[in-house]
Amino acid sequence: MRVEKSLVAMMLLAGPLGAGSLWAGDAKAPPWAAWDKGPSTIDVSSYPPEQQDNYKLFSARCARCHTLARPINAPFTPSEMAAYVKKMQRKPGSGINGKAAQKIIDFLSFNYAARKKKIAKKDGEAKKGRTAQAAGPAGSGEKAD
Ligand code: HEC
Repeated sequence: MRVEKSLVAMMLLAGPLGAGSLWAGDAKAPPWAAWDKGPSTIDVSSYPPEQQDNYKLFSARCARCHTLARPINAPFTPSEMAAYVKKMQRKPGSGINGKAAQKIIDFLSFNYAARKKKIAKKDGEAKKGRTAQAAGPAGSGEKAD
């Protein structure tokens, strides 16, 4: 199980981090400059107690070097986020141990799924109400006003 776990971890790391210089050609602000300006808290009041505890850990550990908004608004899938958590864990003085990292990863996956459900629900409600307004990422370029 241990071996399997670290294999999975390695595969995860090989993903987003393997492409280390994804943004290297961009001389402008780094992508996270925009994420930092987004919401910096998550309403976890409807989450199970265990995930609320994990959230506390996440907000304590992941807001030490940058705002919590950065990981909250980073547009990554759970497996990409898991790789970033491990990357952050390795930073000198991160104060994040393996156990904490795992709990944070758990929280981020749970939150991702919960958020997706919420979006799907909202989308469904909007469709019921009137003609579907696409909730697609970039939008259709059309704005109802
Ligand atoms: C020891 C300081 C430190 C801690 C603790 C830390 N980060 Fe970071 N984080 C950084 C720095 C510095 C950057 C800027 C990019 C880089 O150097 O990797 C960054 C960037 C990021 C990014 C943008 C993507 C990237 O690397 O480029 C994400 C997402 C992120 N952090 C998530 C987290 C999460 C989740 C946690 C908690 C598990 C966390 N960070 C804890 C220092 C930290």
